[in-house]
Amino acid sequence: MREKLEQIRLEAINAFQQTKEASGLEAMRVKYLGKKGELTAVLKQMGTLSAEERPVMGQLANEVRAALTSALAKQQKLIEAAALDARLKEETLDVTIPGKRPELGHKHPMSIVLDEVKDVFIGMGFEVAEGPEIELADYNFTRLNTPEGHPAREWSDTFYLKEDSSLLLRTQTSPMQIRVMENRTPPIRMIAPGRVYRKDEVDATHSPMFHQIEGLVVDKGITMADLKGTLNEVICALYGKETKTRFRPHHFPFTEPSCEVDMQCHACGGKGCRVCKGEGWIEVLGAGMVHPKVLEGCGIDTDLYSGFAFGIGVERLVLRRFSITDMRLIFENDVRFLSQF
Ligand code: DAH
Repeated sequence: MREKLEQIRLEAINAFQQTKEASGLEAMRVKYLGKKGELTAVLKQMGTLSAEERPVMGQLANEVRAALTSALAKQQKLIEAAALDARLKEETLDVTIPGKRPELGHKHPMSIVLDEVKDVFIGMGFEVAEGPEIELADYNFTRLNTPEGHPAREWSDTFYLKEDSSLLLRTQTSPMQIRVMENRTPPIRMIAPGRVYRKDEVDATHSPMFHQIEGLVVDKGITMADLKGTLNEVICALYGKETKTRFRPHHFPFTEPSCEVDMQCHACGGKGCRVCKGEGWIEVLGAGMVHPKVLEGCGIDTDLYSGFAFGIGVERLVLRRFSITDMRLIFENDVRFLSQF
């Protein structure tokens, strides 16, 4: 019996240690320590022993039971610890792994330049106004001293939205002059950036949709000197203090006198190069003193007030500013292109 007990001790402890799962360990417990287990089976034979042997074997049997119980408990702990370990490994959030950086968008070169221009004008006390892209022909043309029959109103140049030519996609931001003068009383200092539309084929320098910034100043005693001073200031702010400008006579229906403003080429300093097409000068904007007819049409007393206005093409500013040679790149919105600026 002694051998049998020792054998059970060895076998059971070994079996417990080999078991790596909770369910398997329970089966081993039943096998060795259960009511119908091997140890119980041996104990049942105690009756066959002599009176001297019985207490000795009883003590040994108790020892074996204690050893088995403790080995079982130890293995149970090991299995639980391993299970917890595995679970933790599976569930852990490794805070040291670098996160996935969300891709940030990129400010469009048009917005970069527009924001700069706005900053300069806001610094000079201008307000920023916005208005509709679907416009009345009355505002886009008639009230800007461009009467019916004027070549600028041709169907071939303008996207009309009605057969009777009364509604259109604005061809210029100049109707904003009327909208602002109608709703405000002088002094007025405003710029109005926005989209305009013309029936142009797409090429490197044309698009049926492009952007302008309209400007309008109306106050007492405004002269051509204010126009020159203001526009010089803006061009110098954008292209550097030393930039020279040139005011050339021109014609616009809604200004009198009218001019076009050139700046000396920032790339070659006026010598003539690829950027200025050998001219030394680059056309920047159209401007002029607001025509008295336009002011009066908005109920402004021309004995008291005068004003100047101007219109800037934003795409041109952007192309020049970033030395971009094809306007289509600005509208394609390929991030590989846009993220260079
Ligand atoms: N609206 C003109 C154009 O699209 C640009 C312009 C010229 C605007 C002179 C003005 C101005 O306000 O005074 O060609």
